Amino acid sequence: MACIRVACRVNAGPGCFVPAFGADRALSNRGRHPGAPRGLASPSGGELRAQVGGVVMGVVVVIGVVVVMVMGVVGQTTAVSFDVARVRSQFPALASGVAFFDGPGGSQVPRQVAEAVAETMCAGLANRGSVTAAERRADAVVVTARQAMADLLGCSPDGVVFGRSMTQLTYDLARTMAKQWGPGDEVVVTRLDHDANIRPWVDAARAVGATVRWADPDRESGELPVAAVTAVLSARTRLVAVTAASNLLGTRPDVPTIAAAAHEAGALVHVDGVHLTPHAPVDVAALGADAYACSPYKFFGPHLGVTAAAPSLLETLHPDKLLPSADSVPERFELGTLPYELLAGTSAAVEFIADLAAHQGPRRDRVVASMAAAAAHEERLLGRLLDGLATLDGVTVHGAPVRRTPTVLFSVAGRSPREVHEELARCGVNAPAGSFYALEAARWMGLGDQGAVRAGLAPYTDTDDVDRLLAGVAHLRRARRARRARRARRAEPELLGGGSATGDGVQLLDPGDQLVVQRRP
Ligand SMILES: Cc1ncc(COP(=O)(O)O)c(C=O)c1O
Repeated sequence: MACIRVACRVNAGPGCFVPAFGADRALSNRGRHPGAPRGLASPSGGELRAQVGGVVMGVVVVIGVVVVMVMGVVGQTTAVSFDVARVRSQFPALASGVAFFDGPGGSQVPRQVAEAVAETMCAGLANRGSVTAAERRADAVVVTARQAMADLLGCSPDGVVFGRSMTQLTYDLARTMAKQWGPGDEVVVTRLDHDANIRPWVDAARAVGATVRWADPDRESGELPVAAVTAVLSARTRLVAVTAASNLLGTRPDVPTIAAAAHEAGALVHVDGVHLTPHAPVDVAALGADAYACSPYKFFGPHLGVTAAAPSLLETLHPDKLLPSADSVPERFELGTLPYELLAGTSAAVEFIADLAAHQGPRRDRVVASMAAAAAHEERLLGRLLDGLATLDGVTVHGAPVRRTPTVLFSVAGRSPREVHEELARCGVNAPAGSFYALEAARWMGLGDQGAVRAGLAPYTDTDDVDRLLAGVAHLRRARRARRARRARRAEPELLGGGSATGDGVQLLDPGDQLVVQRRP
């Protein structure tokens, strides 16, 4: 029998109740998150809905604009604003009232991205060429998408390779690079990484008799010390594969320093940027990545993968390919016909990102400014989430990396991750459970293959979402205590008082486990 029966009346209606987990707390907690820009803690107009201590009429603080100072890669200081209500209004899926914390598995999609996909499919398409309008349209879609990715990542459009997924692209690249390896050569992988930046390299190394060296994160903090990587570098290291951000713990390793050490040893560096790209401005060259892989479906785009590599590196590599297909770079890495409509959706996703925070100028500058503003927004909510979870008895947050994305992994005592996932889902809070394919990391952290529950924030997350997640988790704990108490009452009725368990903002509809945690209208 389920411990929570949740009445989900999404969007409006009596019984709707959003608890507060300290409206001001996020303001005071930036000290715990040194990455947070200063002066960014004001909630925006769309999310001013804090209630204090379960009192129905909450205290509403009105500050309409979050102001950030952004040092762009062009060296400018630019003020940008972040209006989460405006951002949310562009995502049709959010009208459902569901709080989506599953962005690290795949973000929701703004209307303009879906429209770009549909328009491209309806416009008249052929294979890339220059004779017909349909051929020219397909060609323009590809050229535009490469430039969009270049603006997103700060790389050359000539090194942007599209594929079905990051996993597919990484397997292809690993097999191709391994043609130049042999026995005695070494590759370095880390136990922090998603398996898509481990297994392709392990398999490719094994196939040619090369040796795999492992770099391990700290089991408590989830940090990946630079020394863990440098300790396994040698003159025979051909490649270091490292994540820019862990999709399990949020850890952001010091990639530039790791890359510098790898280059010093004569190795190439492949960076998994799938989890970082939706959360921070990215500059591939500044990271020191020879190749950087990401997935547009994690940053509001369609299901695709992208590898951005130095064109000069790609020129030295020769993937297996069909005889008549293009042998130029980057085309020779793109097997078969590209999904033009998804490339158009990717360009629209980059446009969406550039427009996240109001700003003028070239698209690369707008991307950098917008991502910095979105990161500041997420950082503030991360503080609120971590502080809220810290107040909940029986909740364990795994890892405590200093530099991180707004992705939190936690467990609830007495509940399996799957149960927590299911029971939160019943009240319209999507926070999945598992290892999320960061299997080595989950095992290394002692979580086993079942992992834990992951709450990932996104630019469209607001205070209301975070509070509903916290209320749902709080209720899980209270429901467990109430169940125990009922059992004890049945055994020894004279020793215990009656009454329903209600408290800081979670409304129980009956002395059992009925819960309403829903978005306020
Ligand atoms: C950090 C990370 N790397 C790689 C991947 C694999 O990406 P794809 O689904 O595009 O193969 C994921 C997917 O969740 C991920 O989170």
